[in-house]
Amino acid sequence: MKVLLTGGTGFIGSHTAVCLIESGHTAVLYDNLSNSKPEVVDAIETITGARPAFVEGDIRDGAKLVETLKAYEIDAVIHFAGLKAVGESVEKPLLYYDNNIAGTVTLLQAMKECGVNKLIFSSSSTVYGTPVSLPLTEDMPTGTPTNPYGRTKLMIEEILRDLCEAQPEFAAVCLRYFNPIGAHDSGLIGEDPNGIPNNLLPYVARVASGKLEYVRVFGDDYPTPDGTGVRDYIHVVDLARGHVDALTYAENHAGWEAINLGTGRGSSVLEVIAAFEKACGKKLPYKVLQRRAGDIAANWCCPDKAEKLLGWKAQYGIAEMCSSSWKFERMHTQAK
Ligand code: NAD
Ligand code: WQD
Repeated sequence: MKVLLTGGTGFIGSHTAVCLIESGHTAVLYDNLSNSKPEVVDAIETITGARPAFVEGDIRDGAKLVETLKAYEIDAVIHFAGLKAVGESVEKPLLYYDNNIAGTVTLLQAMKECGVNKLIFSSSSTVYGTPVSLPLTEDMPTGTPTNPYGRTKLMIEEILRDLCEAQPEFAAVCLRYFNPIGAHDSGLIGEDPNGIPNNLLPYVARVASGKLEYVRVFGDDYPTPDGTGVRDYIHVVDLARGHVDALTYAENHAGWEAINLGTGRGSSVLEVIAAFEKACGKKLPYKVLQRRAGDIAANWCCPDKAEKLLGWKAQYGIAEMCSSSWKFERMHTQAK
């Protein structure tokens, strides 16, 4: 298939582009570069031997989207483009509603104009809100996300559900990612946030490379085995493969689906630090601080629906996630 990847030069988009190309699809990357760099296209070419087309554009620019969908005769869209910083979304809700919601509506209108009716959407475990019980299954009711970012994910899922009702030929697969981490094993693409990282893994990686002094552990008084927060970390390469499988599914099934992508296993903050220490071969200093506002104690998913519908199952564990993340961090640190 000829696939448009909005947000295609980002962390998850770039790994999915590699996976799509390796599976014989054509990938066209569409990104406004607000949180990624054009050099990612070179890295994808180095890894796969094929250079994907890249269009610098914004998902709020309907005319450019129509032009791109037509020029590349796109069959399906994987929609990664969006802003994702939880704290920033609290400070700038309108920016998030404009970029994520208005941007998605503009994309869907452009797809309609061009007769493209298959979409894979980057949703998030955040749509479940505070879990009532674990593991999380897709038939559980969605909850109340604790921030505007999370609400954009829930609203977009609902917009897609309405669209599928109105246009029965439309296929929308909402992939609810748990906590994506890790990097491609080449070390050429990975997660490289600007400024001080919000998420645990990039923060730990920067402590390992000496760019940050110690890991801040946000709370050790949660009702979890060691008191620190538990999450279902998922290797970004496994996640990328899930998109290719979802595309095959959307080719054969119209309608709306939500599917969890996670391993089904939770790891605590202290377990992640220990796994990273093993990967980098050094002790990582940490300090226990207060809980971070808005954090939940634990979440992990039941990944059975992904296996049943997509034939997908995570292959990598926390050791491979940390070692690939460390390789990317090292290559990156040396390159700078
Ligand atoms: P990322 O920031 O690396 O990638 C997103 C890309 O979208 C960036 O390259 C950015 O430049 C681009 N973009 C943003 N707004 C745009 C716009 N208006 N027009 C065009 N391009 C735009 O983030 P990621 O981690 O790769 O996440 C991809 C998607 O997955 C996002 O929608 C995110 O909300 C979702 N998600 C991410 C996580 C995570 O922990 N990384 C978890 C759940 C869901
Ligand atoms: C993981 C654990 C923290 C940083 C966020 C979004 C979610 C999704 C993924 C997009 C928690 C602890 C963290 C640190 C720490 N994104 N932690 N020190 O909060 O589970 O999810 O990213 O959809 O919507 O909310 O991920 O990596 O920030 O935190 O102790 O410096 O690590 O308290 O227990 P989170 P995270």
